[in-house]
Amino acid sequence: MSTVKEQLIENLIEEDKVSQSKITIVGTGAVGMACAICILLKDLADELALVDVAVDKLKGETMDLQHGSLFFNTSKIISGKDYSVSANSKLVIVTAGARQQEGESRLDLVQRNVNIMKSIIPAIVQNSPDCKMLIVSNPVDILTYVVWKISGLPATRVIGSGCNLDSARFRYLIGEKLGVHPTSCHGWIIGEHGDSSVPLWSGVNVAGVALKTLDPKLGTDSDKDQWKNIHKQVVGSSCVEWNEHCCGLSEGSELR
Ligand SMILES: NC(=O)c1ccc[n+]([C@@H]2O[C@H](COP(=O)([O-])OP(=O)(O)OC[C@H]3O[C@@H](n4cnc5c(N)ncnc54)[C@H](O)[C@@H]3O)[C@@H](O)[C@H]2O)c1
Repeated sequence: MSTVKEQLIENLIEEDKVSQSKITIVGTGAVGMACAICILLKDLADELALVDVAVDKLKGETMDLQHGSLFFNTSKIISGKDYSVSANSKLVIVTAGARQQEGESRLDLVQRNVNIMKSIIPAIVQNSPDCKMLIVSNPVDILTYVVWKISGLPATRVIGSGCNLDSARFRYLIGEKLGVHPTSCHGWIIGEHGDSSVPLWSGVNVAGVALKTLDPKLGTDSDKDQWKNIHKQVVGSSCVEWNEHCCGLSEGSELR
């Protein structure tokens, strides 16, 4: 007696088992799951894999995404602690990271996250030798360099999220100050993600109108509108993110 499935579906051609645009996310915390939702809603992958050491949480997050499949086109969402689930990924996004424990210095955290990278990167490369990697874990610029070295991949295939978040915050805050939607506000923050980042005031424009042409002192101490406070807010947000996610410090605590 054939099953309902056998009666309903007759395979006339052999299914293509190899995914064409698989993405893996390593670390299913707040950032990893935000990435997952964005990837699914933007229809960026035909297969999404999630990897984390916290297996119960991983299972719950995976089930939530799978049960939302009605709203996505991605046909396969899988997860596991073992990196075999990540095999043949085109892109691997690394958001796994340790938070600072009491008494640990910032450098201790770097070492702990370097150790995490040492434990995960070889397994990622082994399973997806042709992948590109996007590093998000902090301190992101240091870890991107470390991952590049550990992975042995060409530099063009190991990318850090850098100041993208800083620039997005910058554009939002410019828009808020002017009452203009951020999509019409343009500007870049460059350098290392976080405290030492640099705002490019000369490039700040709204729909092509450079704000420096309206006020040549824009962003300087003598600028009466104190635009430089916007960059301070961007850096402050990075500190809040850093403190909350990595250092366990409260907002406003000084990080030395
Ligand atoms: N670059 C940026 O712009 C940016 C922005 C926000 C956060 N971050 C950084 O991203 C990282 C993640 O932030 P979050 O808020 O999602 O943290 P989180 O604590 O919510 O999640 C981290 C996840 O990593 C997992 N993990 C830890 N060790 C692992 C390992 N060895 N293998 C696999 N998974 C492991 C944990 O189980 C956890 O689920 C942090 O380092 C944070 O500072 C970067």
